[in-house]
Amino acid sequence: MALMIYHQLFAQRSTPTIKNEADVPAYDLPLLLRTESGIEVKTAEAWERLRRPEIHAYFANQVYGVVPSELNIHKVEVLDFEPNALGGKAIRKQVQLHFKKGKKSIAMRLLIYLPKDKKKSPVFLAYNFKGNHSVNSDPAILIGGKKESELSQEELKSDKLGSRGSRSSRWAIDTMIGAGYGLVTIDYNDVDPDKNDFSDGIHSLFYKSGQTAPEKNEWGSLSAWAWGMSKAMDYLETEPLVDSKKVILFGHSRLGKTALWAGANDKRFSLVISNNSGCGGAALSRRRFGEKLSDINTKFPHWFCENFHFFNENESALAVDQHMLIALIAPRPVYVASASQDLWADPKGEFLAAQWASSVYLLYGKKGLTMQSQPPVNTPYHGTVGYHLREGKHDVTQYDWEQYIKFAEKNFKSN
Ligand code: GCU
Repeated sequence: MALMIYHQLFAQRSTPTIKNEADVPAYDLPLLLRTESGIEVKTAEAWERLRRPEIHAYFANQVYGVVPSELNIHKVEVLDFEPNALGGKAIRKQVQLHFKKGKKSIAMRLLIYLPKDKKKSPVFLAYNFKGNHSVNSDPAILIGGKKESELSQEELKSDKLGSRGSRSSRWAIDTMIGAGYGLVTIDYNDVDPDKNDFSDGIHSLFYKSGQTAPEKNEWGSLSAWAWGMSKAMDYLETEPLVDSKKVILFGHSRLGKTALWAGANDKRFSLVISNNSGCGGAALSRRRFGEKLSDINTKFPHWFCENFHFFNENESALAVDQHMLIALIAPRPVYVASASQDLWADPKGEFLAAQWASSVYLLYGKKGLTMQSQPPVNTPYHGTVGYHLREGKHDVTQYDWEQYIKFAEKNFKSN
């Protein structure tokens, strides 16, 4: 009890943001290759049998939160199919996945662009922040599942139409299509609206009678979004135009955190990309550089499970750090990308986590990050673990996509 009270008092006081490398405290990372009971892990077999499950269970119960039960897709509805989209270069398909439990339901809308000349295409599966219609100015992209002519006066008055294509600079769709890759994108708010409110979204379908919020070890929003990616994958496995053995998870920022956790949970994703994911994503928490656990859990109390709040200003009490999250994806290829001005996301901490995770890739005979220190800007490295530090701010750019496509090409060829 005394410890709890002490912790609560202490946790109120968030320490100043660390902006200089010299101010990073000394820290010891939990060991990837030694089990809780002290067994040294020397083989991929021992990693999978002994160490991986205990790390995964810890992230599930203490960090992101467990999904309380199962729920399958209730109904698949094809809303649109256009074989000559984007000026004749691509196939466009828009699909609505319905989920239902008791009287409650939600729907996830997938916007899919695929190269025209292929029987089956590898795809990037990625959430977007501002609606499917924000990723490209194609006027046929449905807004919340509706055509423009079906929008209510209220919806028309909101900035929905204005936001058509507003985020297109983050989505190099022409480059993907040109390289033979498709894009499957979903508004993350479809699964769980991004606000500190557990009365709506997918969580509410899982409550027992009288329950209004997840239990302490149950899913926050990041875990719910990760769940949604697996459900999208259930659908993609049935989509003949998609090569479901080559589904690449991509996420930027909070959705990069989501992509890493989804990739750790679901081995059907063949490759995972974290773009500027920072705190609670690829960056090491113990460095406390830029955003800290106390910052993220205060500003976004709904992202992680409630148990995770215990570690505010108390990172060393965690039995894991984020290099272990990346390692859970091994031996599948994983790419961690940072941006030089994105200090809030701790680029160096992102690099170090990918570097530490590489020891698990080595157990499988795969190429992790072999360099001694963080590479200079715009010097990408593409092993089975990939990394680049792009010059510039927190964003997703054409440069980033070009690296991801090259990395996927290389890894799909060598596997
Ligand atoms: C905030 C938050 C980050 C997050 C980012 C985003 O900056 O502090 O943790 O990654 O939003 O998702 O855009």
